[in-house]
Amino acid sequence: MLFRLIFSVAATAILTEANDCRCRPYEDCWPSNQQWQALNTSIQGNLLGVRPIAAVCHDPNFDPASCQEVTAEWTNSTWRAVQPGAVQWENWEAWPEQNQSCYIENSRQEPCGQGRISLYSAVVQNEAHIQQAVRFAGQHNLRLAVKSSGHDTSGRSSSPYSLQILTNRLKDIKFVNNFVPDGSKEDQAEGPAVIIGSGVSLQEIYAAASGRGLVVIGGTAHTVGIAGGYIQGGGHSMLGPWKGMGSDQALEFRVVVANGDLLTANKYQNQDLFWALRGGGGGTFGVVVSVTVHTFPDVPLVMSSLNISADAGPNFWPAVTAFHTHLPAFNDAGGGGYYFITASPPINNSESTLALTVDFYFANETDTTKINTLFAPLVSILKNMTGIATEYGTIAVPRVANAYQTLLPGDSDTTGNIAMGGSRLFSRDLLMSDGGGARLTDAVSRLRLDPEEEMIGIVVAGGAVAANGATVDSSLNPAWRRTIIHFVFERTFSPNATLAEQNAVRDNVTNVEVPLLRAVEGPDSHMGAYLNEANPYETDFQSSFWGENYPRLYHIKQQWDPQGLFIVRRGVGSEDWDDEGLCRTSYET
Ligand SMILES: Cc1cc2nc3c(=O)[nH]c(=O)nc-3n(C[C@H](O)[C@H](O)[C@H](O)COP(=O)(O)OP(=O)(O)OC[C@H]3O[C@@H](n4cnc5c(N)ncnc54)[C@H](O)[C@@H]3O)c2cc1C
Ligand SMILES: *[C@@H]1O[C@H](CO)[C@@H](O)[C@H](O)[C@H]1NC(C)=O
Ligand SMILES: *[C@@H]1O[C@H](CO)[C@@H](O)[C@H](O)[C@H]1NC(C)=O
Ligand SMILES: *[C@@H]1O[C@H](CO)[C@@H](O)[C@H](O)[C@H]1NC(C)=O
Ligand SMILES: *[C@@H]1O[C@H](CO)[C@@H](O)[C@H](O)[C@H]1NC(C)=O
Ligand SMILES: *[C@@H]1O[C@H](CO)[C@@H](O)[C@H](O)[C@H]1NC(C)=O
Ligand SMILES: *[C@@H]1O[C@H](CO)[C@@H](O)[C@H](O)[C@H]1NC(C)=O
Ligand SMILES: *[C@@H]1O[C@H](CO)[C@@H](O)[C@H](O)[C@H]1NC(C)=O
Ligand SMILES: *[C@@H]1O[C@H](CO)[C@@H](O)[C@H](O)[C@H]1NC(C)=O
Ligand SMILES: *[C@@H]1O[C@H](CO)[C@@H](O)[C@H](O)[C@H]1NC(C)=O
Repeated sequence: MLFRLIFSVAATAILTEANDCRCRPYEDCWPSNQQWQALNTSIQGNLLGVRPIAAVCHDPNFDPASCQEVTAEWTNSTWRAVQPGAVQWENWEAWPEQNQSCYIENSRQEPCGQGRISLYSAVVQNEAHIQQAVRFAGQHNLRLAVKSSGHDTSGRSSSPYSLQILTNRLKDIKFVNNFVPDGSKEDQAEGPAVIIGSGVSLQEIYAAASGRGLVVIGGTAHTVGIAGGYIQGGGHSMLGPWKGMGSDQALEFRVVVANGDLLTANKYQNQDLFWALRGGGGGTFGVVVSVTVHTFPDVPLVMSSLNISADAGPNFWPAVTAFHTHLPAFNDAGGGGYYFITASPPINNSESTLALTVDFYFANETDTTKINTLFAPLVSILKNMTGIATEYGTIAVPRVANAYQTLLPGDSDTTGNIAMGGSRLFSRDLLMSDGGGARLTDAVSRLRLDPEEEMIGIVVAGGAVAANGATVDSSLNPAWRRTIIHFVFERTFSPNATLAEQNAVRDNVTNVEVPLLRAVEGPDSHMGAYLNEANPYETDFQSSFWGENYPRLYHIKQQWDPQGLFIVRRGVGSEDWDDEGLCRTSYET
């Protein structure tokens, strides 16, 4: 009897352990070659065994011709998006905690570690392939990674020991004159729209839309996947003040959920999923096959440019405060855009020069005089400040597409390096309050500014983003509706940094730098951060990324994915798992 009891306790413990962790390749549960081949057959031969892209640059797989190609394409984001063995950021390919990396910068003799690169990739060509791969992962208890472009700065599109679903090949784009959501009546048509496959990049949709004289609300990047992490995370745009967030434009998703079913989510069916997919974050509720979004007629636009520079003495930061104080007026007039705070490298031990470069865009606007009048008070204050050099100009262009040509030269984003950083959303109320602009400037000025690590103020809210709060019910961080600036700072470390050195950067971001920004608004402001461009180790991420929407998101997550097949770093439900999403650490509370 006693013997039986001990036996059954032990059996339970083993069972629990097996159930609590995803199956890893060194375990008996790992699918046999035959089973992998069955998956391969079911997806028409589109399963690949995967090695990190730089494996061909390291012994024993060194191959001079292949290594030369990889070296040439290393920073080409279009190329990285296509590769199963890459994401966009080197540090999310490596797994430093296990001493596994395959940096191209390392010597040929150093072995190539698999790191966080998936072991297999389902390079899906259609929705049926996604269903097969999701069911296979569920049946075999595999860690699943979903990648569209691999841009995620918190490493959400790579994971150790995983099966990857690569949606990059889903390139369908279909424009419709008057979109009728599935399940609605004919008279509930939503107007002009476009159905976008989850492998379509921003530059592909922009080109297709502008060819028809249309605009789609998207971000400032070439290769980010619009239907992937972009729209599911909320999606901001310089056109936000004009039309709202990217996710505000979504009318319908086609999505494969954890049990393998292919569903439509819109305001008529699976409404909870529709709510969650608009802001709840990528890789969390299922694999999106396509999204349908509003299109708008292309319009003229006024671009304004303001440059301020000064020696890194006492002059620069008051100029930034003057800019912060005037910002609400520009935003209220429909302006959105970006400002960059940079330091030039010091030459010959001289002080470095600090610069503020501001690019603003006023959509559906032709009147440059009106915009010049708007900027005039700030420009005159700046020109009257000692030690400050100021340049200001405006230009009118006939199409939004012209602005993107200026903003996004070439056809690739700068990637292939190491990305770490932090961010915060700041409210319009802050800048309107007494001394608010100065408090923000003060916090920003305390962040170390190295020449290779710029800081970016992203002014993409206000206007329609604020107004849409009254009409769009989605899981988007409610803080966005009160936001005026999404402020981002970058950190990096060298590829040869030890784990301790990497952790020092991460700890400083998490415990010193983000808290500096957090403190500006204070704890009662209910502001937060944008999950797609945030500290990967954000503390209290549930309220930072989703505010009061979190409990409902968590509940929807449990309903659609009770086994936690879709887990990403600092994503909904990730608090129940370890940092790699490999082992469950707690159950629904
Ligand atoms: C150069 C650059 C510029 C940027 N500019 C902007 C900007 O202007 N506005 C803005 O809002 N953001 C911007 N971002 C951030 C960007 O939105 C995020 O990096 C976003 O997560 C990228 O989505 P992705 O699908 O392309 O990337 P991925 O890394 O492939 O995926 C991101 C997340 O979505 C999941 N995912 C991917 N595809 C699917 C799918 N089909 N179904 C379900 N889940 C999926 C992944 O699992 C992951 O969790 C920018 C990023 C970069 C690098
Ligand atoms: C899947 O099948 C294709 C076509 O037969 C083959 O080229 C590929 O190597 C197979 N994948 C794996 C992982 O064996
Ligand atoms: C980047 O990669 C894409 C896809 O492989 C390729 O078409 C393009 O020519 C590359 N660009 C450069 C500059 O090499
Ligand atoms: C990490 O791996 C490298 C080679 O792969 C090895 O030289 C080094 O000793 C390892 N470091 C640790 C801490 O295990
Ligand atoms: C820096 O110093 C070098 C050597 O003294 C000199 O040749 C060079 O012109 C200096 N550069 C600048 C920008 O002052
Ligand atoms: C542009 O502005 C005009 C005048 O305010 C307005 O009638 C029109 O609808 C706007 N166009 C778009 C696409 O928003
Ligand atoms: C210019 O600066 C001086 C002193 O610094 C100040 O008295 C004056 O009011 C300023 N003028 C403007 C237009 O801001
Ligand atoms: C501001 O600086 C940028 C980059 O150096 C430059 O392209 C732009 O023309 C400048 N703006 C003005 C108004 O001079
Ligand atoms: C931590 O961050 C602050 C602010 O950016 C910086 O001044 C400081 O040097 C950093 N410390 C370390 C150890 O990196
Ligand atoms: C690490 O890399 C940097 C360049 O990124 C280099 O300057 C430094 O010498 C390297 N350190 C070691 C120990 O290899």
